[in-house]
Amino acid sequence: MCVCCSHVDMALQRCVSLLCPAALLLLLSGCVGGHGRFKGFGNFRTLNGGEHAAGKRSASEELWFTQKLDHFNGADGREWKQRYFVNEAFYRPGGPVFLMIGGEGPSNPAWMQSGTWLTYAEQLGALCFLLEHRFYGKSRPTADLTLGSLRFLSSQQALADLAHFRSALAAARGLAASRWVAFGGSYPGSLATWFRVKYPHLVHAAVATSAPLYATVNFPEYLEVVWRSLASERADCPVVLQEASRALVERLSDPKTYDNITKDFNLCSKLQIENKMDSAYFLEMLAGNFMDVVQYNEDNRGFEGAVGTNITIKLLCGVMADASLGDPYARYAAVARLMMDAFSIKCLNTGYESYRRDMTDASWDGPAAGGGRQWVYQTCTEFGFFQSTDSPNQPFSGFPLPYHVQQCADFYNISGARLAAAVAQTNEQYGGYGVRSSRIVLPNGSIDPWHALGATQDITPELPAVFIKGTAHCANMYPARSEDLPQLALARDHIFLLLQKWLKP
Ligand SMILES: *[C@@H]1O[C@H](CO)[C@@H](O)[C@H](O)[C@H]1NC(C)=O
Ligand SMILES: *[C@@H]1O[C@H](CO)[C@@H](O)[C@H](O)[C@H]1NC(C)=O
Ligand SMILES: *[C@@H]1O[C@H](CO)[C@@H](O)[C@H](O)[C@H]1NC(C)=O
Ligand SMILES: *[C@@H]1O[C@H](CO)[C@@H](O)[C@H](O)[C@H]1NC(C)=O
Repeated sequence: MCVCCSHVDMALQRCVSLLCPAALLLLLSGCVGGHGRFKGFGNFRTLNGGEHAAGKRSASEELWFTQKLDHFNGADGREWKQRYFVNEAFYRPGGPVFLMIGGEGPSNPAWMQSGTWLTYAEQLGALCFLLEHRFYGKSRPTADLTLGSLRFLSSQQALADLAHFRSALAAARGLAASRWVAFGGSYPGSLATWFRVKYPHLVHAAVATSAPLYATVNFPEYLEVVWRSLASERADCPVVLQEASRALVERLSDPKTYDNITKDFNLCSKLQIENKMDSAYFLEMLAGNFMDVVQYNEDNRGFEGAVGTNITIKLLCGVMADASLGDPYARYAAVARLMMDAFSIKCLNTGYESYRRDMTDASWDGPAAGGGRQWVYQTCTEFGFFQSTDSPNQPFSGFPLPYHVQQCADFYNISGARLAAAVAQTNEQYGGYGVRSSRIVLPNGSIDPWHALGATQDITPELPAVFIKGTAHCANMYPARSEDLPQLALARDHIFLLLQKWLKP
């Protein structure tokens, strides 16, 4: 659920996901079916679910719901099958119904076996559903991912899917009088908020974790939070990192250094920089190592099968402070190699042209069909969220806004003007920070770069924020652990008390 890369496509060497920055080597993600950053390495495994209660259907069994292709055209009767999961183990007749919203990647049935929402479900006697987002995972409404097909990919269509699923399941299972609660983390957290906002008659309350509420083309604040999160570990960490990335940019201007760079960063073939897109792509990929680690620092993604969860801000800042490795540039290269080892990446592929080729492959078997092509399309047609280096108060160099905007044109033929208009329309549709509704709790973590677009203060008494100092993206959604920060445990309890209050008969 959260925005991040949970699945990574090893062929492409990047994962794709939502709110993930576009970067690089990546880890996996957390959150139900989204993953956080965009490109990266990592891999995605699903857990085999056991059964919660004897005699009941396994909570990891795949189920299929007949869904409309286009909810906004009554004359179009085309249909497709949307994947979902159910866990009936905790349900007590008369109890609420919890609906976990899938995000920008395959939905992982591990969430039907554990996760804080199930702890709440057990105590409240809730029936639990997880609905995969259209165009991700096995929920494929169209035969391919051409622009003609992607027209049916939008948050508005996804919300209408949720509305239809909720109405049809309520009718089929006699749950029309039950109170439905939407859950989601990262982009699905935004969807949980908007589901309650747009369909208040269908959803009683929502838990919208790490939810960006405000769409924006340029999102330089993301890297500003990365600076602060690294500095909270060691004050000099982002300073050394900034020196390293500046040194690398300087070397990129001299082709005589390319043999060394190729060796230092373990590239698959000799570095070639033919234009600004090539250098931006390379620099963003390397910065992605830090972006991913900060976004998911010390969380409990491991329960989902995520790898690399022992790579933390502390570990990377330790490498950046280790003078025995050489100058800051050499330490930066050491971090890149450490990440590649952790994700079993043999070498790094660079070159914007090959990335463009992967991103424009419109087949469901294509290298970016795991979610990259779809999510970047959503950023170009709805959200922006481009994690640029346009602020002076951040550690990296070389991937400014125009690099991101150019991708919308290169991959989907969308101009900068169209992008800006689309993002403005998203805020008009949902309200941005001015969202008005009730019974939506908005938890967020101080380390998480996405908190910069979420609510960190109560929007109204009926839209409470829960700010968790020291935690990363979607931390409150993962199963509790003994080493969790006390404020994280308190946040989980606080959210439970709100649910209890909102669900009181
Ligand atoms: C490449 O690295 C070697 C060994 O560190 C160094 O001696 C050499 O000067 C470097 N070459 C360039 C062009 O920077
Ligand atoms: C992380 O854990 C893996 C497997 O448990 C181990 O092989 C690896 O060395 C660890 N990496 C670090 C940096 O601690
Ligand atoms: C790209 O978009 C422009 C303007 O909307 C349109 O005229 C053109 O035909 C499109 N090109 C392709 C290849 O789709
Ligand atoms: C998170 O919650 C805190 C405290 O309620 C609030 O100050 C902050 O703005 C919130 N941030 C986001 C992104 O929701």
